[in-house]
Amino acid sequence: MRIVVSDTALEIARQVSAILLAQVRKKPDSVLGFATGSSPLETYRLLIEAHRAGEADFSRVTTFNLDEYCSLAQDDPHSYYAFMKTQLFDPAGFSYDRVHFLSGLAEDHEATCRAYRAAIEAHGGIDIQLLGIGRNGHIGFNEPSDRFSDGPFMVQLAQSTLDANARFFENASPPRFALTMGIGDILAAKKILLIAMGDSKAQAIRAMEHGGVTPHCPASALQTHPDVTVFLDRAAARLL
Ligand code: GLP
Repeated sequence: MRIVVSDTALEIARQVSAILLAQVRKKPDSVLGFATGSSPLETYRLLIEAHRAGEADFSRVTTFNLDEYCSLAQDDPHSYYAFMKTQLFDPAGFSYDRVHFLSGLAEDHEATCRAYRAAIEAHGGIDIQLLGIGRNGHIGFNEPSDRFSDGPFMVQLAQSTLDANARFFENASPPRFALTMGIGDILAAKKILLIAMGDSKAQAIRAMEHGGVTPHCPASALQTHPDVTVFLDRAAARLL
């Protein structure tokens, strides 16, 4: 696991977006795994800038997002689909026939999860997976538990995750369940980039990097992957 500590969110975003842009220039039909949350926002802004400047064409890129809340339709402004549409896909010119999302409204969630994994495999796997990290060490929505999940599955969210994500829901409460890629799906990506910023992530980053590999800190599974780069600001890196 490579650790890169930077002074600002912009410095992190410049490095992460440069890697993603190089990938798409080298392979215009790349398969990218995307994350929601505030951590990748600045990176997405720079990808949009590159597209607007005519320096990047994302129209042939295939995407798979990590997770989605159950019971929210894609046009619900709180859905992760809506987040990606506004924060990246529309302004950066992605093609929606190449965008893949777990459906939070699926009636048969097990079939949806199996189909998602099959779709990732049918596209030859994910070239670069972008990740954030939860305060409790979750990646995607893989919450701390007694075992690592392999494929996509439905998860009951931890109270700390609901509390952390309540800020996106104004007067409503976040759904208590979500569908997420499993740890096995994340580890199957060829390259992984994780962004974490702020004091509230410092404990999780320490457990991810210094603790043993344990499902009680799901991000610790990344220690077993050969190509992970972790981008931190000084606050998130303060316990390393
Ligand atoms: C959510 C998402 C994760 C994300 C995490 C951190 O729980 N499911 O994919 O990494 O939040 O979010 P933030 O970047 O806003 O701190």
